Amino acid sequence: MDKKTFYITTPIYYPSGKFHIGTAFTTVAADTMARYKKMKGFDTRFLTGLDEHGQKIEELAKKNNKEPQEYVDEMAKMAKDLWKMMEIENDDFIRTTEERHTKIAQNIFDKFMEQGDIYKGKYKGLYCMPCETYYTESQLVDGKCPDCGREVKLMEEEAYFFNMKKYEQKLIKFYEDNPEFLQPEFRKQEMLNNFIKPGLEDLCVSRTSFKWGIPVKKDPKHVIYVWVDALTNYITALGYGSSDDTLFKKYWPADVQIVGKDIVRFHAIYWPIFLMALKLPLPKKIYAHGFIMMKDGKMSKSKGNVIYPETLISRYGLDAVKYFLLRELPYGQDGVFSPEGFVERFNSDLCNDLGNLLNRTIAMCNKYFDGIVPAYNGKLNEPDSDLEDYAIKQIEKMQENIEELKLDTSLEEIWKLISRTNKYIDETTPWTLAKEENKEKLASVIYHLIENLRRIGIALRPFMKNTSSKILKQIGIMDENVNFDNMDKYPNIKEGTKVIEKGEPLFMRLDAEKEIEYIKEQMKNN
Ligand code: MSP
Repeated sequence: MDKKTFYITTPIYYPSGKFHIGTAFTTVAADTMARYKKMKGFDTRFLTGLDEHGQKIEELAKKNNKEPQEYVDEMAKMAKDLWKMMEIENDDFIRTTEERHTKIAQNIFDKFMEQGDIYKGKYKGLYCMPCETYYTESQLVDGKCPDCGREVKLMEEEAYFFNMKKYEQKLIKFYEDNPEFLQPEFRKQEMLNNFIKPGLEDLCVSRTSFKWGIPVKKDPKHVIYVWVDALTNYITALGYGSSDDTLFKKYWPADVQIVGKDIVRFHAIYWPIFLMALKLPLPKKIYAHGFIMMKDGKMSKSKGNVIYPETLISRYGLDAVKYFLLRELPYGQDGVFSPEGFVERFNSDLCNDLGNLLNRTIAMCNKYFDGIVPAYNGKLNEPDSDLEDYAIKQIEKMQENIEELKLDTSLEEIWKLISRTNKYIDETTPWTLAKEENKEKLASVIYHLIENLRRIGIALRPFMKNTSSKILKQIGIMDENVNFDNMDKYPNIKEGTKVIEKGEPLFMRLDAEKEIEYIKEQMKNN
């Protein structure tokens, strides 16, 4: 039988500057999900890429004395290098300037015109240049762009419009029939109450005021305006409408499309409607995450509070950064990055809780059993049963949460197991058992510790692959093909398994004061 498929996407990012940790979060989250699903045996496909057209890019290129194509080529390299450094395992990287996209996006626009979904009109509105979005008076906040807070300009131009109203009832019905479509739930209410039910406005889908875009085939003084161009990437990347649509047939509809809260409207309203117009199935789930904020609000260069992933990774390692991002952003809500918070999580969660558990266990296994993991001989110590039950339950909870994209709570469940296992050492005091020469009970303790480190190592794998490998290697488990089988029962460690003689610490404790200063300094310089 064919494997079940899992298709996950990130938004395609504007190549308008270096990516900060906010952008990195979305990609890391999608990567984590893809890795998890792969471990669960799914045939996964993970897409990310760049949204390379638009007025802002045209202007940025000019400012840099470059042709737009030259500019986006450089930015694409920057993006690919960053994802490589972050060990992101995307299967494809789509750029909207690639022919495989432009050709099909043009055809899609044509089809909409032929079907009468698109009509020509005049657009007059308040336009935010950096966000490439028109707003109505009522959407503005203090007369400024509701998303970025910058000035808007009154503009008018001939333009094509997509007749959204035509699909309004169908969309409402879709929401009724698919209550799980948009997550979290409060976003769905927001969309229905603020946008869909009050009546959809037609969407402007072309521009004549700039050139850097895909020309409309039948009216080339117009370029396709951002959302028809951008959103269709999710299907053009699969070869939809091309001579080879094998991937499209295999992976569409997407299982999860991850987006930031600022672009929910486009993914939860326009995207489904475009797909309806194309008579294609809709994605199974759109998940909108919150923003990574700084203590003084949004990240911005003018505030001197931007932090780039490279800065943190080069000093603290990839896994520490991934851990922070995934742990600190509550499901669907905003999270805060602060140097203090980062260093605290590093020292307390990674060094103390996880690092020490591994260190102590390896040391004891070497000291008392020459590094050979003792055989499982039942539940000899009082807390053994409790620990076994707890571990099985935690791994289940960890999986339930990650399945729902609750990455922060999924990690929290793993950390509860880490704490419980540390507590188990205090409860059983192996050093006393050794003194009392109670070899049998001592063996049981060491066995249980290693067994739980195995679970922890595997559970951490989708989030922090390198740390997972280090843990498994130190406890003598080959890590290539580990998966979530055999997590619901004991025993699992093969007889004769040998742990490492002296393991490197997973994370070196940070001098908090010094590192907080260091990060603050980096933020000021950015
Ligand atoms: N190009 C469009 C998306 C088109 S998708 C068909 C776009 N690009 S963007 O570069 O501005 O933003 C990309 C993503 O990064 C969005 O999901 C946005 O929410 C996310 N983030 C930008 N800043 C962020 C934070 N500070 N924190 C978390 N995510 C953030 O919009």
